[in-house]
Amino acid sequence: MTEGTPTSERPLRIAVIGTNYLGANTAAGMAEFGFDVIGVEIDEHRLKLLSDGKAPLYEPGLDPLLKKHTDSGRLRFTKDYHEIADWADVHFICVGTPQTEGSDSADLAQVNSVVDMLAPLLTRPCLVVGRSTVPVGTSKRVEQRFHTEAPAGAGVEIAWQPEFLREAHGVDDTLHPDRLVFGVQSAAAEATLRQVFATPIAEGSPVVVCNLPTAELVKGGANAFLATKISFINALAEMADATGADVTQLADALGFDKRIGRGMLNAGPGYGGGCLPKDLRAFMARAGELGVEEVITLLREVDDINYRRRARIVDTAHELLGAEWVGRNVTVLGAAFKAGTDDVRDSPALDVAGRIQLHGATVSVYDPEAMENARRVRPTLRYAASAAEACEDAHLVLHLTEWPEFQQLDPVALKDAVSIPVLLDARLSLDSAQWRAAGWTYRAPGKP
Ligand SMILES: NC(=O)c1ccc[n+]([C@@H]2O[C@H](COP(=O)([O-])OP(=O)(O)OC[C@H]3O[C@@H](n4cnc5c(N)ncnc54)[C@H](O)[C@@H]3O)[C@@H](O)[C@H]2O)c1
Repeated sequence: MTEGTPTSERPLRIAVIGTNYLGANTAAGMAEFGFDVIGVEIDEHRLKLLSDGKAPLYEPGLDPLLKKHTDSGRLRFTKDYHEIADWADVHFICVGTPQTEGSDSADLAQVNSVVDMLAPLLTRPCLVVGRSTVPVGTSKRVEQRFHTEAPAGAGVEIAWQPEFLREAHGVDDTLHPDRLVFGVQSAAAEATLRQVFATPIAEGSPVVVCNLPTAELVKGGANAFLATKISFINALAEMADATGADVTQLADALGFDKRIGRGMLNAGPGYGGGCLPKDLRAFMARAGELGVEEVITLLREVDDINYRRRARIVDTAHELLGAEWVGRNVTVLGAAFKAGTDDVRDSPALDVAGRIQLHGATVSVYDPEAMENARRVRPTLRYAASAAEACEDAHLVLHLTEWPEFQQLDPVALKDAVSIPVLLDARLSLDSAQWRAAGWTYRAPGKP
């Protein structure tokens, strides 16, 4: 960090800017590490919840951690940049970088808005650390702006520290990261980040110290690889369907090879959520700007395979309904893009539900946590208060998000509620023998 920053006399003061999925976990985690933290959030509703020690989203374990530290006084939230400008030693940028409307590239408006608001107020040296996922090259542009627009000028140092937390495991991943990537330009910045993350480093979290472009590329590269793994196993599910093989056993057998690994090898409706899809596209868009055709060709197919999965599920549903849509009741179990979260951004479950409704069927959706968000995104679907209610008079039940609650469903009792007992287990995770024994027609893509 730049000379003069008071790190030795007192614990570091940390600002976390943008406090939804990434930022709320980051702010609570930094407080748990022992620092004084101020979270900055411009959304009034989220700001109110956070100030009361409540998470603005469903994330296991986050509410108690926020409450613990808002009560202890170590963590507070504001919308006023004046409160952090000369107070914080380290400013973490955690705002959103969604896909630009009508383009594959990342929309950096939120990152730019942070610079607009923070830079003119910075009068003393500090470290600004980007945690948002950004296209390679962004940090240098951000640096240039801070150096010209902040009164502290070059005293504002930039680092990038991409975050790999998984929704539904956000707290654990924040407190015990599987690796820390420090994109830094000086030994002082590295030392400051080592101080911030002293607790997980002492626990054994490995640290990769690298330059800014490497740090920016790590996150995009990681998500591109994970997306490729998911599309790879989904392509193999098609092979399994064509040959009578079982894709789950195939994944188990492949996964025992340590070079391959079992993680992200579950065939299903494909990836979704607020990160993987938009990060993959932003990576391709940046590769296009840089003229790296290999990346575009490879990842375009990965993305296409992913979206064909959704169409394939709709086709199978059509076939199971006897090629009739109108007048049919279809139950969709799940709305979140995966279990353990209420995030419905680019959710395969909601996308499939919407497509089936467009074909003319009546669709009833149930999700244990994501109903409110789903209703906001797709208000015309029918929403049931329970899985049992969603299944009433159904001609087809689709299992699209792998919540543990759905594993506990009683197929015998549900058979009495539906019109026709047909189940399409697009997550391949229900007990096929149990459902068949209860008299259901059970179908799962990639399984014989
Ligand atoms: N969601 C995840 O699990 C996850 C994991 C790793 C990395 N990331 C990356 O982290 C970033 C944030 O992701 P997210 O899912 O939390 O995004 P999000 O859009 O859900 O949250 C962004 C928050 O920033 C606030 N904000 C916007 N502009 C602001 C400003 N100028 N000042 C203060 N607050 C502002 C918004 O109101 C919102 O609450 C993205 O780049 C994402 O790709 C997300």
